[in-house]
Amino acid sequence: MVTPQLTEDMVISALRQVKYPGMSRDLVSFGMIKNARVEGATVHLDLQVPTEDAEVVAKVEASVREALSRVPGIGEIRIQNAPRPAPQESAPGPAPLPGVRRIVAVASGKGGVGKTTVSVNLALALAQSGAAVGLLDADIYGPNVPRMLGELGRPTAHEGKIVPLVRHGLRVISVGYLLGEQSPIIWRGPLVAQALKQLLHEVHWGELDYLIVDLPPGTGDTQLTLVQAVPLTGGVIVTTPSAVALMDAERGLRMFREARVPILGIVENMSYFICPHCQGETDIFSRGGGRQVSDSLGVPFLGEIPLNPTIREGGDTGAPVVVAMPESAEAQIFRNVADKVRLATEAAAEAMPQMIIR
Ligand SMILES: Nc1ncnc2c1ncn2[C@@H]1O[C@H](COP(=O)(O)OP(=O)(O)OP(=O)(O)O)[C@@H](O)[C@H]1O
Ligand SMILES: [Mg+2]
Repeated sequence: MVTPQLTEDMVISALRQVKYPGMSRDLVSFGMIKNARVEGATVHLDLQVPTEDAEVVAKVEASVREALSRVPGIGEIRIQNAPRPAPQESAPGPAPLPGVRRIVAVASGKGGVGKTTVSVNLALALAQSGAAVGLLDADIYGPNVPRMLGELGRPTAHEGKIVPLVRHGLRVISVGYLLGEQSPIIWRGPLVAQALKQLLHEVHWGELDYLIVDLPPGTGDTQLTLVQAVPLTGGVIVTTPSAVALMDAERGLRMFREARVPILGIVENMSYFICPHCQGETDIFSRGGGRQVSDSLGVPFLGEIPLNPTIREGGDTGAPVVVAMPESAEAQIFRNVADKVRLATEAAAEAMPQMIIR
């Protein structure tokens, strides 16, 4: 059998199969493979892994070697760890936000499971308990926070920084407020990263007990940027009880684990349906999966939120259930979730000095 001639395309397509640890995106699309070239059977490439963590770099290099070793006709694999970009261009390491005590990211592997609903009601429940709370809408392509909190007008600037809007006592920022929710955003990865960094570092957050960050679905540029831009106190994973959503939740968990971000727990949303007529509970998507995933992965379970039209209406009308119907059972469920998040952040914050943050 004739071995095919090794080409750069073969190398690149093999590397497109290698995911960055914990992420669903591959090394090529993240731009971490530089100067790949082939000389006979030898492949040379520079690997630019955006972390100081030697363990992660070694892991990525091992996966690259493993993927390339399967390419037909490959001989020697020469990998250079590419110099990190010059300081003025390089992504700075995680920088705390002055005055912000705890930063909590709300994530999910899958879209539409209720991250924004949970973020908004969680932030409001924490604020109701007397904490100073900010909410950052990190969904640059599809910002939904403005809809859930109501249109608020445009943020202003003060001393070169953006002043967040205030709604129900929350300090809120979203590209939706800056550009309008409807503007189609077709930015590519690096611009998304830049926009998120601005929303983190160039906003007058003031003194905050919590900054809740509502992430877009999945594990891509925004997630990677966030874990590298600020020291997260922890991550909350939202899932629905369906099997597919749960698998995606596990992916989200792995992302935080790989980035050494403590997992504060899992929220199961749309867990069951309470019939408005007979008050009977129906488990539409087979309830309990969130708790099982929590148990099997050893992370806290933060609660089950029912599928309930009042929760959706609160989201659609800018009056989330926690503030619109504070006496309701649903508001109480969100307050219970908030209590658990508060306890989990306390534990995570205590462990923080020992944590290695990239
Ligand atoms: N428990 C619930 N009961 C009823 N409706 C809900 C519930 N949770 C979320 N919804 C509704 O489901 C839709 C999706 O929720 P949401 O926008 O919070 O999800 P998401 O995970 O943030 O979505 P995306 O991945 O697009 O950011 C919204 O219309 C919201 O009002
Ligand atoms: Mg959302």
